[in-house]
Amino acid sequence: MGAAVPPVVPGVPVPADLDVAALERLAVDVARAAGRLVVDERPADLGTSEKSSRTDVVTEMDQRSQELILELLAQQRPDDAALGEEEGGRTGTSGVTWVVDPIDGTTNYLYSVPAYAVSVAAVVGDPAVPGAWRAVAGAVLNPATDELFHAHLGGGAWLTTPRGSTALRVSAETDLALSLVGTGFGYAAATRARQAHVLVELLPRVRDIRRAGSAALDLCAVACGRLDAYYETGLNAWDRAAGELVALEAGAVLGGLDGDVADRDLTWTSGPGLAPAFAELVRGLTRTHLAGPAQD
Ligand code: IPD
Ligand code: CA
Repeated sequence: MGAAVPPVVPGVPVPADLDVAALERLAVDVARAAGRLVVDERPADLGTSEKSSRTDVVTEMDQRSQELILELLAQQRPDDAALGEEEGGRTGTSGVTWVVDPIDGTTNYLYSVPAYAVSVAAVVGDPAVPGAWRAVAGAVLNPATDELFHAHLGGGAWLTTPRGSTALRVSAETDLALSLVGTGFGYAAATRARQAHVLVELLPRVRDIRRAGSAALDLCAVACGRLDAYYETGLNAWDRAAGELVALEAGAVLGGLDGDVADRDLTWTSGPGLAPAFAELVRGLTRTHLAGPAQD
């Protein structure tokens, strides 16, 4: 494991004529529409069903949110593909795919913990293949707090609230021992047991740990310095596509187990000053305790 900071983003070409600012505006609009839906039309009984395990649930609002997002996107950009966490993606011909998590942090939503997000990203390349895609525009909305994180490639990262918009910058922290680190856990018990071993060794090395419950918001928390760093194993493209762009545009360094491509084995991100030490630590612990294919 070297100490060098890896390159920031995968080298997936972006068509010169792609209007990434317009894609960002669309991501913002549909995220806001879905955010209103999940707050205003939340039923008293959420009606959950199980996915990969008894604790991995989907609510009817996850499904309704995704349906709304995909419908609004299709109205504006019918030639784009869409990939969502829930069922109902589609293929396209434009080279742009919308990668959508209709509610990231479903467990928080279920328990009314105000830390869940609608995450909408426009990506180029193939989001099914690690390293073969990159987000070019995205929005992460926490509808419970009315915080909207958004970015397009080369445009910086922004937090918009009812009080206005602020440009985001990652923390300047360089000392691991003083760093506040976010993480998350999968849903499979066996994976969690291994993630717990990573945590046991990481916790004494850092200031403290936060497990907020939404990967999209965790990535945005790094973007605005609420976390110095974040790592997780087992993330899917929809968990991270928009938040990753927000973090990168705020100056974060981001990578995976071996290089600059985050994937299901590992996603880590931090400010540049912390990146060499943080990458070395989380890569080493992940190799030791989480070797083998990541599960949910
Ligand atoms: C989950 C959240 C959580 C992370 C899990 C994700 P979901 O997404 O982002 O913070 O730890 O890995 O699966 O299931 O709430 O959309
Ligand atoms: Ca989700």
